[in-house]
Order: sequence, then structure tokens, then C-alpha cells
Amino acid sequence: MKKEIVVSGIRSTGFLHLGNYFGAIRNYVRMQEEYPCYFFVADYHSLTTHPDPLLLKPNVYRVLAENIASGLDPEKVALYVQSDIPEIPELYLMLNMLAYKGELEKTASFKEKARNQPDNVNAGLLTYPTLMSADILIHKASFVPVGKDQEQHLEMARNFAQRFNHRYGELFPEPHPFNFGEALVKIPSLDGQGKMSKSENENATLYLADTDEVIRKKVMKAKTDQGPSEENTPMPDYIQNLFDLMKLVSGEEVIRKYQLDYAQCQIRYGDMKKQLAEDMVDFIRPIREKAIELQKDEDTLRKIMKSGKDKARDSASKTLEEARKAMGINFYC
Ligand code: ADP
Ligand code: TRP
Repeated sequence: MKKEIVVSGIRSTGFLHLGNYFGAIRNYVRMQEEYPCYFFVADYHSLTTHPDPLLLKPNVYRVLAENIASGLDPEKVALYVQSDIPEIPELYLMLNMLAYKGELEKTASFKEKARNQPDNVNAGLLTYPTLMSADILIHKASFVPVGKDQEQHLEMARNFAQRFNHRYGELFPEPHPFNFGEALVKIPSLDGQGKMSKSENENATLYLADTDEVIRKKVMKAKTDQGPSEENTPMPDYIQNLFDLMKLVSGEEVIRKYQLDYAQCQIRYGDMKKQLAEDMVDFIRPIREKAIELQKDEDTLRKIMKSGKDKARDSASKTLEEARKAMGINFYC
């Protein structure tokens, strides 16, 4: 086992999708064999949009089940729920003293959320990057497997870690985004407009819980055109996206065939989408079926959560004690 610590989280804001799988979970599954890993359901992070309290529990249980169904082994990693670890909000409070209003307001995700929900630009939204930094630094993580959209948040986590170390003495390693040396991933939506996401663009996002029929329908609806009429025509974004999706689930020969068809202006997008749909169905079906089974067994999920909580608190309480001491908050000795 290598010594670098790994942390990553997924918000409990809805159904997991191919972006979560290929941007994050696929790497969790590989990393669990090589590193000490802490993976969690970021339920506090989901509160920024004021979700219905009744939906929190099913959402948290589903995210746990879908992670396990995707190959995460709760025996090998600490798999826990963020709100089970009180050390995280305490470190968040400390880090907020090192986070400046100007830089928080400039964060791309804050600006986007503030635009989308102008009536609810709350302080939790503004300080989202400090909570995320606390999630990571509480275990002194070095590697954070995430998709491309999290790059800026990781940069902020490094800044906060450096500031803490500079002011109070070396405590935190600098956390870096991780994708086995490759560029971070962004899985495009099926309509070519932005990325797959839990809550936006539902018809152009493939969820791990989608039925075979729904998968086929969504893929067949993906935007195409008449096809190129001249050789060497550059691919429009929405066609490139279909090829990118194919690369995730289809065999190399299949992909080569359609690339050649495109180059020779003979591509039949209907056939290509049928192939993509079937390969997606084959990929998603076993994960969906396993996740459904797991969700029926709440007792086991509760046991997993509890065991993850014990492992995570063990590590978190040590770091928090060191952080308190470094800041001078140790009044009984
Ligand atoms: P969402 O954005 O769908 O609500 P989260 O914010 O909880 O999902 O993200 C959980 C993980 O999944 C993060 O590591 C994030 O970078 C990754 N992720 C989400 N969407 C995509 C995507 N379309 N492509 C690649 N990675 C993604
Ligand atoms: N902010 C991440 C997202 O929106 C989720 C997240 C919360 C996270 N805390 C984290 C990811 C810590 C990695 C590490 O996708």
C-alpha cells in the first residue's frame, strides 16, 4: 500500500450518472487497491440548494449503493457520510478564517450557482470551497480523484493548506486532483450542451439507474445531422461527443469502423447510435441491478456507514487535534 492518502466525495443531490462514474468512481475503484482511501457522500454540500428534508435519506442511501455497485469495496476503504464526521465542520470553521471574500466570490461554481439561484445566494454557497477543503485536509490527503469541473476547488484547497502551514506551521500536504497521470475527465451530455449532471439536462444525461429502454431512448435522441459530404470534414462538437461516449463503453474495432465511415462520408448515425445504446445498456445494466439489490438491504448499508464513520473519525480526530494545537486552541494543558 502506498502512503499517499486519497479523499473524494459525491454530493447527495440526485441519481449518479456516467459523468460521476467516469470522472470519479472509476478511479476510486482503481485507487482502493493501492492507497489508503476515504470516500464519502457529501450531504452537507447538498444543503446549499435547500433540498426537501424527506429526500436526504433516500439520496444518501442511493449514492452509497451506487458506489458499491460500481465496485467500491467498503472493507478496503472508509465509505462514510460527511455529516457523521463532526471534525469536518470544525476544520471548516478554522479554514474560513483563512479564506477571503474576494477569492470566494470569484470562484466559477459560486458565480454559476448565484446566477442560477439569485434568491438563495447563501453563505454556505459562498464558502463551499472551504468546506470541500476541510473534507480533504481533515485526512491530510494528497490525491483527490475528481472530474475536470473540480480543478478550481482543488487549487483553492491547496491555497488554504499553504496558508495554514505558513501561519501555524507545517501540517497539511498539498492536495492534487488525480487521474492516473491523465488529464481530468469531462463527460459531455448527449445533446452536446455542457456536461452530464445530476440535476440539469436530465434527458441528455445517462444515469446509472436508467432502465434499458430509457437508455436506448436517450441515446437515439442524441443530436446528429446528414453526415459529412466531403472527406476530412472536421467533426461538429455533438458528433465528437458521440464518439467520446463510444470510447467509454464500446470495443476498439467498433469505434474504428465508425471513424472510418465518417472519414469516407458513409457514416449512418442511426446505426452508430443503436450500437452505442446497446453498449451503454450492457455497461449500465449490471450496476443498476446491483444497486437496486443493495438499496433493499438498509441494514447492511447502515452497517457500512457506521464502519466508515468509525474509520474516518479515527483519522479526522487526530488531524483536528493537531490543527487546534497549531492554532493555540489547547487550553487544558
Ligand atoms: P454533479 O455535478 O453531477 O452534481 P457532483 O458535483 O456530486 O456531481 O460530482 C461528483 C464527482 O463527479 C466529482 O468528482 C465531479 O468532478 C464528477 N463529475 C460530475 N459530473 C461530471 C462529468 N460530466 N464529467 C466528469 N466528471 C464529472
Ligand atoms: N465539490 C464536489 C462536487 O461538487 C464534491 C465534493 C465535496 C468533493 N467535497 C469533496 C470532491 C472533497 C472531492 C473531495 O463535485
